[in-house]
Amino acid sequence: MKVAVLGAAGGIGQALSLLLKTQLPAGSELSLYDVAPVVPGVAVDLSHIPTDVAVKGFGKDALADALSGCDVVLIPAGVPRKPGMDRSDLFNINAGIVKNLIEACADNCPNACIGVITNPVNTTVAIAAETLKAKGVYDKNKLFGVTTLDVIRSETFVAELKGKSTSDVHVPVIGGHSGTTILPLLSQVEGVSFTDDEIASLTKRIQNAGTEVVEAKAGGGSATLSMGQAAARFCLSLVKALQGESVTEYTYVQVDGSDDAAFFAHPVRLGKNGVEEILPYGTLSAFEENAKNEMLEGLRGDIKLGVEFVNG
Ligand code: 2OP
Repeated sequence: MKVAVLGAAGGIGQALSLLLKTQLPAGSELSLYDVAPVVPGVAVDLSHIPTDVAVKGFGKDALADALSGCDVVLIPAGVPRKPGMDRSDLFNINAGIVKNLIEACADNCPNACIGVITNPVNTTVAIAAETLKAKGVYDKNKLFGVTTLDVIRSETFVAELKGKSTSDVHVPVIGGHSGTTILPLLSQVEGVSFTDDEIASLTKRIQNAGTEVVEAKAGGGSATLSMGQAAARFCLSLVKALQGESVTEYTYVQVDGSDDAAFFAHPVRLGKNGVEEILPYGTLSAFEENAKNEMLEGLRGDIKLGVEFVNG
């Protein structure tokens, strides 16, 4: 498997690249691209870790080489939030970055699975889809918004609250990756029950967890280490799937024939061709149904912004 990280010298990129260097299957190749001049150094640094994963760094003029032959491309490139900013405030800078990188993916690895991490994910995934369509290489089964961070945060917070081991807690999270579009399905968590107050406060904490990190970093950026872990989990699942195992992850994908939105995080069965099956998210509680109905218009607006950014 050849995996590229675009934005590999950034906070998420470095954490993610480290986890992939130590956890990708033996024989894999890791291609690290960044516009920052430190990227060859990041690659040399990682290359001293004794695993059977080959690492190569690619500077700003070598994007095509970084991408050629890739099976999976992960994109954390872009600018992060500062306190007081919403993910949508990043649109003006990050939209263009994602469009350019996706164009290069279309030209150099048109069959790769692409995981978009760059915020605002609700919108950048739509930008990626429209860009790939314009290039004539869009495969809806191979484009993902990485929402795994919402899942791992939910598992952590529920385990903490209920005194459980995190490995015993599984929390479905559907919707998008911003504010109220993040919808944890606490009613479906097996083996625990919540009071109405707990549901309200946990849901809010999960939705604001990114902001919790942004505020704690006080101008120094947003989540990088937990996002790196989340993206690594998603990538390793995808790699297993591409190698023939059937794996299920929650991820933000194009969903046809749904009343929700054109893109929506669902449980997705991954396989050799990317998405093998978009699974239903099951029955929602009245609280969740209401929360979903209240956020749908905002999510659809986020998606429309991305479509219009590419198509004018
Ligand atoms: C977060 O949720 C960075 O969007 C990412 O913290």
